[in-house]
Amino acid sequence: MPNKIEFNKDYPIIKKSDEYYKIALDLIPAQTQTLAKGPGQNIKGVAPKYLQHGKGSHVWDVDGNEYIDYTMGVGPLSLGYAYDKVDEAIKKQLEDGITFSLMHPLEVEVAELIHKVVPNAESVRYSKVGADVTSAAVRVARAFTGRNKVLCCGYHGWHDWYIAVTDRNKGIPQAVQDLSFTFNYNDIQSVIDSMDEDTACVILEPYVFDEPKDNFLQKLREVCTKNGTLLIFDEMWSGFRIAVGGAQEYFGVKADLATFSKAVANGMPISILTGRKDIMSLLDKDVFFFSTFGGEALSLAAAKATIHELIDKKVPQYLAKQGRKLKDEYNSIAQKLGMNYTKCLGFDCRTIMTFDGEKSGSNPLEMKSLVQQEMIKRGILWGGFHNVSFSHSDEDVKYTLKVYEEVLPILKKAVDEKNVKGYLRGEPIETVFRKTSNFNVKPKKK
Ligand SMILES: Cc1ncc(COP(=O)(O)O)c(C=O)c1O
Repeated sequence: MPNKIEFNKDYPIIKKSDEYYKIALDLIPAQTQTLAKGPGQNIKGVAPKYLQHGKGSHVWDVDGNEYIDYTMGVGPLSLGYAYDKVDEAIKKQLEDGITFSLMHPLEVEVAELIHKVVPNAESVRYSKVGADVTSAAVRVARAFTGRNKVLCCGYHGWHDWYIAVTDRNKGIPQAVQDLSFTFNYNDIQSVIDSMDEDTACVILEPYVFDEPKDNFLQKLREVCTKNGTLLIFDEMWSGFRIAVGGAQEYFGVKADLATFSKAVANGMPISILTGRKDIMSLLDKDVFFFSTFGGEALSLAAAKATIHELIDKKVPQYLAKQGRKLKDEYNSIAQKLGMNYTKCLGFDCRTIMTFDGEKSGSNPLEMKSLVQQEMIKRGILWGGFHNVSFSHSDEDVKYTLKVYEEVLPILKKAVDEKNVKGYLRGEPIETVFRKTSNFNVKPKKK
């Protein structure tokens, strides 16, 4: 019998998952199209590998096991799986058509909506995935300023200009690598030190998990303006989540350009570039940014329905409320157990669990893997984050906290015995190059 969302006797059977995986090993390099969903991020041998369907905050894997999901498609499911209002809008549009031979009115309707809710959206363009619009933003910033260099901080997608700063930069020409640099979040001096007269733009996630300190975003705004450098907010995670108008609304700081995706269409593939009219007007002719599926209507219909729902139901406030309960209670359980090496951090709408190797004397990836393994046994699909959605009910949260009360003592015991690895029933999860803060991979040499 498949596992349910309860204190199951045993770990889920993942036979069908493993059958698919066996074929993928031979056929699909890296097996996954999204690193964060891939086998390296889930304890091999225990975690399910393929999901079949979802409803609200719950998902079912291909073997029929049910879970509360805290990954939520790595961000997009802001309302929840198979959310009626959005699905109805998609189905209605499906009857009329998906992709057309001329422009579709939804391109205009959604642009008007975004213009209303996103602070810097004097102009709006669409594409499909996050990397499309971060790369378009960088290109248009280079064209507008006549400069070449890019400073970044955070993750911005798979394209050359960004991956150049990471340790997975094979295949990127040296000439491109020579133009991208990083700086430290919350360290305005590191921005100033990296900037020069050839710096076209500074692109960053306005926050990842750390709060901006000492007016960092305001100072960044000033430093960029002073240097004639464009400020780009990558709001893939913050957009339509921390507030409907994203971090610009929440922190009251306007970027010259901003990029969005994930939460805006509840799972449909669409990304958005917004910005100052004088900059965005370069996209009329001088800067080329077009693609076949840019105005695909199902995703636009989903975006329209999602944005209305986010506003009508005050979704950002709901996410903050549920997220705060999870964060506060996780920390309180850990504190009561004297586990100073694990914490839940971040803005309430999306939080992360951290595991400190030095304080615990254990391997952080093994600790995270053990928690994941035990959460999965109890019907919770957990990747170390609380990506809450509008469908995460009070009951989901209550059950999750009961599970933490049982799982954290298991971690504590394993750490106390200095034997976390011994408790693992599979291969631990692997690192990605992405870190939560200050991953200054390639600072500019002075
Ligand atoms: C902050 C940020 N920027 C850009 C991207 C790239 O988006 P995509 O994977 O849709 O290309 C991501 C993806 O996770 C992201 O988190």
